[in-house]
Amino acid sequence: MDLFEKIKQNRGPIGQHAKDSHGYFTFPKLEGDIGTRMNFRGKERLVWSLNNYLGLANHPEVRKADTEAAANFGFASPMGARMMSGNTNYHEQLENELSEFMGKEDTILLNFGYQGMVSAIDCLVDRHDVIVYDSESHACIIDGVRLHMGKRFVFPHNDIANCEKQLERATKIVSESGGSILLITEGVFGMSGDMGKLKEIVALKKKFNFRLFVDDAHGFGTMGKTGAGTGEEQGVQDEIDIYFGTFAKSMALIGGFISSKEDVVEYLRYNMRSQIFAKSLPVPLVIGALKRLELLKKHPEFKDNLWNIVNALQNGLKDAGFNIGKTESPVTPVFMNGSIGEATNLIYDMRENFDIFCSMVVYPVVPKGVIILRLIPTAVHTMQDVEYTIDAFKKAYVKLKAGEYMSDKIAAF
Ligand SMILES: Cc1ncc(COP(=O)(O)O)c(C=O)c1O
Repeated sequence: MDLFEKIKQNRGPIGQHAKDSHGYFTFPKLEGDIGTRMNFRGKERLVWSLNNYLGLANHPEVRKADTEAAANFGFASPMGARMMSGNTNYHEQLENELSEFMGKEDTILLNFGYQGMVSAIDCLVDRHDVIVYDSESHACIIDGVRLHMGKRFVFPHNDIANCEKQLERATKIVSESGGSILLITEGVFGMSGDMGKLKEIVALKKKFNFRLFVDDAHGFGTMGKTGAGTGEEQGVQDEIDIYFGTFAKSMALIGGFISSKEDVVEYLRYNMRSQIFAKSLPVPLVIGALKRLELLKKHPEFKDNLWNIVNALQNGLKDAGFNIGKTESPVTPVFMNGSIGEATNLIYDMRENFDIFCSMVVYPVVPKGVIILRLIPTAVHTMQDVEYTIDAFKKAYVKLKAGEYMSDKIAAF
């Protein structure tokens, strides 16, 4: 069959809904300054779907630093990959400041978080090595594992007994291959909001020889006393051998970083294909990241505000009888039962009649019949926003239970 013909026939699990959903449920346009109130299809909505956890996106100092850096340097600078012609003092300063903040020896910047994770996994292991990883890992971990030429063993999400079994299997294999074991998990799982069981995994180091790589995209800036992430939260920061953070969430920017031991970072610097063969982060983004990191450190009240909103929202939803699963982080999933049609009608009602913009997660990301409305609280939401939203959820839930959203058709917009 012709490739284009095949693509025409099989649009993919989400793509098959493109015709009915594009521009509304998928690829919606939120316009205006990033914040809790943004314009969607010509009307202001209360937004709960942006990972602007600390509210830094529109902080006046951030906006000023971004604007000045763009004016002073332009986005072309520097040209080339870091190794060839794209290195600057700003890049190195940011790496040093991140290392200090994370309590790690060294740091490498990544021009995209996702691509950096994939590439780091690819770079760290060879065919003699074994990867052990959590089944609910983010797509970037899965893709990194896909590149791996050696064995990989997956353990059911946060199942430490099974993880131990996989480590036993892995240990047997590397004892013959002469390879090593890399265990990969997340600090905070972005869909369910629960933490990776880092403490328990670290305890397994007493029995097994492996290195721990943690993707803490959602934990950086939100978890731990200083915001240094889930390792700090669980008191095992030093035992995380390789720490990944993104700038795309708490830092409200783009890019990411990996912090580890000096020689590991140097190895990544000289071997990681996504950084060697790609243009480095533009200077305005690096200066923007330096400003955000400065504010993150200087204003612990941003994280306190975030958690006040998180606690009010999550407790309020629980008190109202909603199932928010096992979240231990700001990520707030609200689990409901219903079809994709009902989910879209519910979201449509939320957006059009309650002026609330939140995201939904449906099959195939979650099992058929499960709907997740995913709320992301931020430091700049208010208690009034929380109350209004819980009330709206209660009203929508009554309608869902009464079958009012029942329809095989996706809501027309
Ligand atoms: C757990 C996790 N890892 C990695 C990434 C990718 O980060 P970035 O957006 O910086 O590419 C994300 C972003 O969605 C994420 O949630």
